[in-house]
Amino acid sequence: MKLVTVKEIYRETDLFLNQKVELSGWVRTVRTSKAFGFIEINDGSFFENIQVVFEESLDNFLEIGKLTISSAIRIQGELVSSPGAKQPFEVKAENIEILALSAADYPLQKKRHTFEYLRTIAHLRPRTNTFAAVFRLRSVVAYAIHKFFQEKGYVYVHTPIITGSDAEGAGEMFRVTALDMALPPKDESGNLDFAKDFFGRETSLTVSGQLNVETYCMAFRNVYTFGPTFRAENSNTARHAAEFWMIEPEIAFADLSDNMNLAEEMMKFVIQYALDNAPEEMAFFNKFVDKTLFDRLENILSSEFVRVTYTEAVEMLQRENVKFEYPVCWGMDLQTEHERYLTEKIFKKPVFVSDYPKDIKAFYMRLNDDNKTVAAMDLLVPGVGEIIGGSQREERLDILQQRMQESGLNAEDYWWYLDLRRYGGVKHAGYGLGFERVIMYLTGMANIRDVISFPRTANSCEF
Ligand code: 4AD
Ligand code: MG
Repeated sequence: MKLVTVKEIYRETDLFLNQKVELSGWVRTVRTSKAFGFIEINDGSFFENIQVVFEESLDNFLEIGKLTISSAIRIQGELVSSPGAKQPFEVKAENIEILALSAADYPLQKKRHTFEYLRTIAHLRPRTNTFAAVFRLRSVVAYAIHKFFQEKGYVYVHTPIITGSDAEGAGEMFRVTALDMALPPKDESGNLDFAKDFFGRETSLTVSGQLNVETYCMAFRNVYTFGPTFRAENSNTARHAAEFWMIEPEIAFADLSDNMNLAEEMMKFVIQYALDNAPEEMAFFNKFVDKTLFDRLENILSSEFVRVTYTEAVEMLQRENVKFEYPVCWGMDLQTEHERYLTEKIFKKPVFVSDYPKDIKAFYMRLNDDNKTVAAMDLLVPGVGEIIGGSQREERLDILQQRMQESGLNAEDYWWYLDLRRYGGVKHAGYGLGFERVIMYLTGMANIRDVISFPRTANSCEF
């Protein structure tokens, strides 16, 4: 008897047809009549279920007929073809062992549940078709990203989660402090005393691995990091999470246009990889989540991304006769409504917006010759808005120091980062791709809470 998975049966049917097989999995549905019955089981290996037929000759026939949804069973039987049926084959059970009965109050009965409800049972939702597809795709896309960079010879650097500096200089950090009572982190007046805390200084969860990965870029040339990042952003939107994953490549001897080329190539690679390697899941999204998904992705694969400067984008938006909630003026940060208008109405494809005003961007971005803008780029995509943020980095020590001062940062905290500019620092660039945003983009899922296993957002950290 061969122990097989549902995936193996679907992918290599010929190998198993008319053979004895053994399978284990969870019951999705049970139907019985007097003399026989059907069970659909899912074993977690594949998107599809497999149908099992059982007859009254089985000595536990009556018990099998009463199996509750999500009970675990092991089946032995023959894989036979079932022409004309919904599925091309089924297993004729010779033996069904009940491994675990599921309680009758199992919340995922056979009906459609809203995504909002499923968020309240995030520990069970990967058992639904939609979330099984999302989280399977998430795994495939993570692999695609590593494959893309590894095949180009990039070195994967594990940057730290706990950090003493604010990589974005935006103050949206979660503080890290030891709960150990032997290290009372308070001074006489009851204020937190970080000198007495675990690390002897104030520390936080990282908002970006960029500054650390830049150090490896100046040693290895082309590097990337891919890990969790944390932001205490007070925006309760469908696109922001307090904990999210980010992919951050950093390339040496490279400028902003090299950076955009890399981002475009990576995006296309990842889309193609998802279509090729998760075809069942992608077809599911196209059918049930967003019917324009395939058209949208095909359109992107075959077109060049648009490149405009911030100044051009502002002028374009001003020329449109639209009443935005926030009227567009030079110097403002583009809001989601503007970003979406650019990609969805004006260009109908992904758009790189570059050269933003320095006052709305981070201190490390390279100052342009106009002294007003920096060599920054954001990639905006239809449906999601900003998916990538990046820049060419300021490699000139004096200008970097001045920008840090303007941004109110303490240069002493960044001494090691400044050293990079003193010891053979060359022009370099990089970007951050929000991993959940890519998954939203590839699935059509509209809420970031539905593409990360256990979402953390303001007032929500249940599981
Ligand atoms: O534009 P951001 O803030 O850029 C950086 O952090 C740079 N240090 C990256 C770099 O150059 N190495 O963030 C990058 C991307 C955004 O474009 C967005 O996709 C995602 O990270 N992102 C978030 N995703 C989910 N929830 C949030 N709160 C996010 N904030 C940013
Ligand atoms: Mg950004």
